[in-house]
Amino acid sequence: MMVQSPVATVVILDFGAQYSQLIARRVREACVYSELLPHDTPWSEIARRNPAAVILTGGPESTLAPNALGVDPRLWQAGVPVLGICYGMQLIARDLGGALVESTHREFGPAALRLLGASPLVDGVPEQSRAWMSHGDTVEQAPPGFTVLASTASCKVAAFGDPDRRIYGVQFHPEVAHTEAGRQIISNFLHGVAAIPATWQMESFVERAIGEIRAQVGAGRVICALSGGVDSAVAATLVARAIGERLTCIFVDTGLLRKGEARDVMHAFRDILHLNVIKVDAEERFLARLAGVIDPEEKRIRIGHEFIAIFEEESLKLPDIAWLVQGTLYPDVIESKTPGSKAGHKIKSHHNVGGLPETMALKLVEPLRSLFKDEVREAGRVLGLPEAIVERQPFPGPGLAVRVLGEVTAERLKTVRAADAIVTSEIEAATLAPRPWQYFAVLTPLQSVGVMGDGRTYANLVAIRAITSEDGMTADWARLPHELLERISTRIVNEVPGINRIAYDVTSKPPATVEWE
Ligand code: XMP
Repeated sequence: MMVQSPVATVVILDFGAQYSQLIARRVREACVYSELLPHDTPWSEIARRNPAAVILTGGPESTLAPNALGVDPRLWQAGVPVLGICYGMQLIARDLGGALVESTHREFGPAALRLLGASPLVDGVPEQSRAWMSHGDTVEQAPPGFTVLASTASCKVAAFGDPDRRIYGVQFHPEVAHTEAGRQIISNFLHGVAAIPATWQMESFVERAIGEIRAQVGAGRVICALSGGVDSAVAATLVARAIGERLTCIFVDTGLLRKGEARDVMHAFRDILHLNVIKVDAEERFLARLAGVIDPEEKRIRIGHEFIAIFEEESLKLPDIAWLVQGTLYPDVIESKTPGSKAGHKIKSHHNVGGLPETMALKLVEPLRSLFKDEVREAGRVLGLPEAIVERQPFPGPGLAVRVLGEVTAERLKTVRAADAIVTSEIEAATLAPRPWQYFAVLTPLQSVGVMGDGRTYANLVAIRAITSEDGMTADWARLPHELLERISTRIVNEVPGINRIAYDVTSKPPATVEWE
């Protein structure tokens, strides 16, 4: 087995800020590996990672409150470079002998940041630049040994540092795009102050992950459910590179996929990626399960159960399977550990092939646990996955069943598939900036009167949904050019039988959701 070189790791201690994940991403964008840990992680646990630097995030609380969240004090003696952001900076001030004042009001939004002196932290930063502030308390006086590096009109200590101990703090948020010098400051801290080389690259991740998978599964046999989505494709390809034929993938064609999708996915997996894939044609089973069902939640639940049943049936046909590959991503891993993260109200039963058979008593291989979504795409490119898979838009596990409002039948699926193919091809042929994040057609049961040729029609309404979003959690409707909407509308009405009217969905999320069901 290949010997893995240790990777320089930056540990980010999370105090529950809205932007904690963004800090981890920015560090990785600077080609440095980072891990987000809860703020109260014991020093022994942090030290086990041999951190090249530690970053303290912001947080919603006040460091002056009784029982305020803190860090293991051994951090201050460890000789490791530290960057405190917002709450993190206030914590440095509180713990190392500075002075803080409680706020009477919160400062929120852009501020003009003015440099007061030279320092490796602000190397290359303009004398004046815009910085994003979001805080209550402020540092009144830097701790002994610290120099004040920058200020704003309402915050006289906006950045400070002790070059000897390599401990720095910034009151503003360098991780957000609105802070003009933010990337420079993070890069200065990592490469200048902490002298960490910019070596975290996808190639090294892929190499390391393959070695780790080999070590983890030994001589075991592994199973994987492929959905056609990027996460399961990248996870499966990594595992296949590690253990070859001992991985069996199962691709269930639910009959709920888009036009040509099942064929394209199989072509990519079998012919391009050379994965060992069993294809299960299950359209009839899913249609039988969905017959007469119109309630969205009931559809989702039935599809999820049927999927598990098929996956289990198939896996029982394979001898000696001990492991299941899951495409779990880093945001899923940290969600449960982040202070203040709560399980929200259930809006929809999301069905995801990665999160399936809990009853099967298989051990988990989760090679993407440390990656963000955009890093998964990059890993996919390094592994040679086709662009169509790497850049595939999110597609719900229950597929077109949640885009056919009312009963799901073969006929109605054919209609939505034809309309969706027109929406997709027209949007992809257009030059749009920004490109919508997701776009599709929805078949509604609503019928209305129309006139075609000289005759009256009484046919269905198709809705078009196109959104801009970063992660699907919130979304805005895409401002598509009217000419493009016109082309899509004309083509659907002319080319898809049974449709005589088109509506464009102009609702954001919230209050709507992305999918209609
Ligand atoms: P909603 O409709 O909840 O969708 O606003 C947010 C994002 O999630 C996708 N989506 C799903 N993804 N399984 C998935 O893997 C599901 O059951 C599912 N339902 C919705 C949706 O397409 C959007 O990108």
